[in-house]
Amino acid sequence: MTAPGGPPLRVLVLDHTAELGGAELALVRTCAALGPEVDVRVLLFADGPLRARLEEIGVRVDVVALAPSVVTADRERAGRLSPSTLTGALRTLPFLWRLVRRVRALRPDVVHTTSLKADLLGIVPAALARRPLVWHVHDRIAPDYLPGPLVRVVRGLARRIPAAVVANSRATAETLPVVTAVAYPGFAPEQVVGAERALAARSGAPEPVVVMVGRLSPTKGQLEVVRALRTVVDAVPTARLRVVGEPAFGAEDYAALVRAEVTRLGLDDHVDLVGFVPDPRAELDRAAVCVHASPVPEPFGQVVVEAMVRGVPLVATRAGGVEEILDDPEEGRDPLGLLVPPGDAEAIAAALLDVLHDPAAARDRALRARASALRRFPVGRTARVLTDVWTSVSGPAPRA
Ligand code: GLC
Repeated sequence: MTAPGGPPLRVLVLDHTAELGGAELALVRTCAALGPEVDVRVLLFADGPLRARLEEIGVRVDVVALAPSVVTADRERAGRLSPSTLTGALRTLPFLWRLVRRVRALRPDVVHTTSLKADLLGIVPAALARRPLVWHVHDRIAPDYLPGPLVRVVRGLARRIPAAVVANSRATAETLPVVTAVAYPGFAPEQVVGAERALAARSGAPEPVVVMVGRLSPTKGQLEVVRALRTVVDAVPTARLRVVGEPAFGAEDYAALVRAEVTRLGLDDHVDLVGFVPDPRAELDRAAVCVHASPVPEPFGQVVVEAMVRGVPLVATRAGGVEEILDDPEEGRDPLGLLVPPGDAEAIAAALLDVLHDPAAARDRALRARASALRRFPVGRTARVLTDVWTSVSGPAPRA
């Protein structure tokens, strides 16, 4: 344990990507919330926008570059044993060597990995540096989410290798053989700023604006929402959809598909493809309803919490972490948003119309959702859970 007033615990976080994915945004918020008892440093396997976001909040960042083809290899490819996977593996050897040297030189007390690739590539450096390894798992380790062979490997290693395994939700924890703690990604204080004023402005019957926030990807379900909007516009001709986000991790083809579907369904005047917005608060505040439509079970779903703290009514797919976010016995037995089966455009449409036709009931749910999220998901909590895990694996003896 770190003695109060003693030297801070040195935590080295490894992440393979410097794109701003969900786990990376969660990392930035968590780093900003850590107390003086932790000295955090981040080592990325690629350069990109995450670096600036971390440096802005005073976190030191190192980059040890991995071959770009390995950084961007998708989970499907990584799960198959093909010649390109093998070449990829060979190409990681010099990288691993550089990583080992850097980890040793930085002398952290704990090595914390926050993406699947970093979990795997962090094993050797942490072992050779004789530092405890903490896996922070942001993906459901399940065959409906990852290729079967990868699931078996990750589960097998999870049992034997890391000193601790942290899951980002109970839904993720259920897919792992051992879990030390659940650390929900938290919202940052600035995400709540101005929410009360926006709520007051939205009282009464808000404009029928539907908002969807997240990168464009088949795993997020923009296509289903566009299809749902066709039905919504038939019933509410002034309804609009604002799709906030851009394709990342190679989903440009999917973005083109979404655009083509908007046109095919005659919705060009009803859909705004807004693109990436660094701070989606204003987009959430102007919406009558936020839709979260992941057709595959989402490990957590930070956008859901983001909408909750702004008091925006929610329609979301009933799967993965989203279900536990919207279920809070302390706020009554009814879910805090309308839940629909994954991948069902007509069910999404029906739920959106329910919100638009009954704004009073939607507002009541949204206010309960807001109270619940403010209580359960502040990022200070995430920081405390992680600090406790790091402290416990760093050994019971006071450090010299
Ligand atoms: C990953 C998951 C997402 C989760 C985020 C933060 O991006 O896909 O569900 O919200 O990590 O834990």
